[in-house]
Amino acid sequence: MSIDAEKINNYINSFAKLINEQQAKKYNGDLKVGVDLGTANIVLSVIDEEGNPVAGASYPASVVKDGLVVDYVGAVKIVKELKNRVEDLLDTTLTHAATAVPPGTIGGNMKAISNVVEAAELEVTNVIDEPTAAATVLGVTDGAVVDVGGGTTGISILKNGEVIYTADEPTGGTHMSLVVAGHYKVSFAEGDALKMDPARQGEVFSIIKPVVEKMASIVKRHTRDFDVDKIYVVGGASCFDEFEDVFFKEIGIETIKPAHPLLITPLGIALNSLK
Ligand SMILES: Nc1ncnc2c1ncn2[C@@H]1O[C@H](COP(=O)(O)OP(=O)(O)OP(=O)(O)O)[C@@H](O)[C@H]1O
Ligand SMILES: [Mg+2]
Repeated sequence: MSIDAEKINNYINSFAKLINEQQAKKYNGDLKVGVDLGTANIVLSVIDEEGNPVAGASYPASVVKDGLVVDYVGAVKIVKELKNRVEDLLDTTLTHAATAVPPGTIGGNMKAISNVVEAAELEVTNVIDEPTAAATVLGVTDGAVVDVGGGTTGISILKNGEVIYTADEPTGGTHMSLVVAGHYKVSFAEGDALKMDPARQGEVFSIIKPVVEKMASIVKRHTRDFDVDKIYVVGGASCFDEFEDVFFKEIGIETIKPAHPLLITPLGIALNSLK
């Protein structure tokens, strides 16, 4: 099955626009909320009953690391602030939210993620798998969804709408920033800033290309025993223009990247909320 890329990109672009312009859309009926506690970004997404984005907010943070809460108080504070911001835009109170964890997260860590959301006064409707969230937005039922986030790369293989295999490997945007910092002999923060400078994308990409090749070889290893004919990449660290080309060259499987890859998982969490 192939996805309707144009429709999906329009959908994601509308959410990105709301976040960037800090605006809310008019809506009818009940709202669904998603909270993505990522390693690099915390994102709160709100959609209406039909799944249309109505508001959102995000905050760069390092309070959660690969699904592990490392700064509980800080995390709660940020979710509260995002909630307040979005409530002001919508002129309503949000009461429930879904949240997500990387595949393989268990027991206490899963509970800690829910506790953060609950402490921000959002009753947790359900906790889902990050790849499932991304696959819902993309309408993917078969293929591999690869989420290249801040700290890790999550690989999920779907068949007939079911996730049949998952893996999480410790490589992501943080490693790219380290390589950039090393190359220019600057601090991590400076390397990270350089990495995100749109004016220097080409130059930066030539430096981090080996990291992307390495990521691709990891994905190749995890997908080789399955019948995968398309790879969908999401996550902030896949933002580089040439990212999917490197994957295709290295793996030999068609690789598709939607618009605003870092907003896919957050939107999918709201879409999967049970209330
Ligand atoms: N325009 C961009 N160009 C390059 N890298 C980017 C860009 N925007 C974001 N990133 C990188 O993407 C990473 C964050 O992506 P994302 O928000 O998907 O991660 P996360 O969900 O917070 O982390 P994880 O899923 O690993 O817990 C960071 O390393 C950030 O530097
Ligand atoms: Mg993530």
